[in-house]
Amino acid sequence: MNKKSLLLLAGLLIFVSSCYYDNEADLYALYNNGDCQTANVSYSSTIQPLLNSQCISCHGSGLAEAGIRLDSYNAVTVQANNGKLYGTMAHSQGFSAMPPSGARIPACTLQQLQTWITAGTPNN
Ligand code: HEC
Repeated sequence: MNKKSLLLLAGLLIFVSSCYYDNEADLYALYNNGDCQTANVSYSSTIQPLLNSQCISCHGSGLAEAGIRLDSYNAVTVQANNGKLYGTMAHSQGFSAMPPSGARIPACTLQQLQTWITAGTPNN
């Protein structure tokens, strides 16, 4: 390996590791600084808007992929209680990743979803 490619490689390593630390800083903020608000999670203000923006286009009145609709409280609680609502959004093993394309739902949002499910899926 000549000098030039060594320099290139070093530069690349520094670039890649700086990205890595950026991500870690984000995670640290999310979990250790209390930035993720889970105290006021409710069906109407947290869960419904999430499903409306991420899921309803394929799981609503027009289209109900896999026979699943997520446009009513009762239907949503079925998927919450059988583990699929969280499993699909968290990309857990054994579940289809939802939504099927794009990035996974942010960690804080998943935490809020889990909070709502653990609270017994209140209709609030
Ligand atoms: C672009 C269309 C589309 C969107 C958006 C979408 N889904 Fe799906 N969903 C599908 C299709 C297609 C299937 C059936 C095939 C499969 O399981 O991958 C499915 C299946 C499912 C299943 C059953 C999968 C299983 O493992 O049993 C659940 C639960 C589900 N979706 C929940 C969601 C949730 C929650 C969201 C929003 C975060 C969402 N989906 C967004 C298309 C979509």
